[in-house]
Amino acid sequence: MMVRDAATATAVAPLLQYVERPGIVDLAWGHPDPTLLPLAELRDAAQQVFDRYGADAVAYGHPAGAGPLIDWIHDRLAVVDTRAPDRSEILITAGTSAALDQIATMLTTPGDTVLVESPTYHLAVRILRDHPINLVAVPSDDRGLSVDRLAEAAHRLKRNGAPARLLYCVPTYNNPTGTSLDTARRAQLVDVAAREGIIIVEDDAYRELSFEGTPPPSLWSLDTHGVVVRLGSFSKSIAPGLRVGYLTASVGIVEQFASGGMLDSGGGNSHFAALMVATYASNGSFVATVQRFRAEYKARRDALLAPFAEARLDRVQWTTPRGGYFAWLTFGDDVDAEALRYRAEALGTSFALGVSFYLDRDRGRNAARVAYTRFDAATLRRAGELIVEAARGV
Ligand SMILES: Cc1ncc(COP(=O)(O)O)c(C=O)c1O
Repeated sequence: MMVRDAATATAVAPLLQYVERPGIVDLAWGHPDPTLLPLAELRDAAQQVFDRYGADAVAYGHPAGAGPLIDWIHDRLAVVDTRAPDRSEILITAGTSAALDQIATMLTTPGDTVLVESPTYHLAVRILRDHPINLVAVPSDDRGLSVDRLAEAAHRLKRNGAPARLLYCVPTYNNPTGTSLDTARRAQLVDVAAREGIIIVEDDAYRELSFEGTPPPSLWSLDTHGVVVRLGSFSKSIAPGLRVGYLTASVGIVEQFASGGMLDSGGGNSHFAALMVATYASNGSFVATVQRFRAEYKARRDALLAPFAEARLDRVQWTTPRGGYFAWLTFGDDVDAEALRYRAEALGTSFALGVSFYLDRDRGRNAARVAYTRFDAATLRRAGELIVEAARGV
């Protein structure tokens, strides 16, 4: 029997993932501001779910997911994307992270090669690394993922007898850079993937958080070959603890997932929470809340980035995202962002290191990711000033 060390034993089990660091405004966390979350609306929705569905609210749900939410997503994507999926092309997930894990389980076999956009969402890499597959980076530039480099990588891997099976990317309001894949490249990307037999896993977690009009069309909406699996999430548009998301894919992939062992055993993902989301959304709360989020996050983005524009340091560049949670800072080539973070923390703020978002960690040494969602505008402005102050010294 393992005996727990007294030093690691805790009196009370922790509640949350977020860890407060006293005295530090930590921009490394991609979490929402708890004070913005629609608690009253969610509480009302939970009550209405019990009133409307009774015991069915807490039964094992239909394997593809709760019907009322599938109906709502069908309608919603006609508004925020350029093609509405058929109901048979939608599967409810327990969030993007769980969906990605499930994709790696269902769509790869041990030893497969999976391509990953670079830089990319670092925790998606962690999920993929939980599987016995090989990851290969595909670089991006200021227009997003390079389709030419993708085609090159696909050919090289095929020649070497290890053809790529999947490509993971975040084309819209990217994590970590905040930029979006060029519209012209989107159709090219889908065509190359179809030609090379690669399934694209399009992480579309930020579609609802556009600051300027309609977001770019999803890769899924441009796909006439059935090669894109798009992952949507309610973590950023409602609240992350609900653990509800969805995927849109070909009917064949949706059926493969819905008839797999996990959903056969447990029923549809997050059944109760999915009914809550459907009820909340049908009440009008979804649209009202995302509009509030968009306005607030846009103002916060501006507050955080204003000190950079005002200081105009030669050796600091930044992205101005049109949506999502994150901006990307690039310092002079010889700047070590880790040393800069050390200085920033001494002043009272922190950020995520650029290297964390590269597979091989030999790039991004002079870069940083900053999230502008967790703190109010005044706090973010001050954090921006402190990073500028830290950057002046390097
Ligand atoms: C690109 C991206 N995908 C997925 C997630 C996590 O999504 P979920 O809460 O739906 O698992 C995040 C959260 O930061 C993210 O940035």
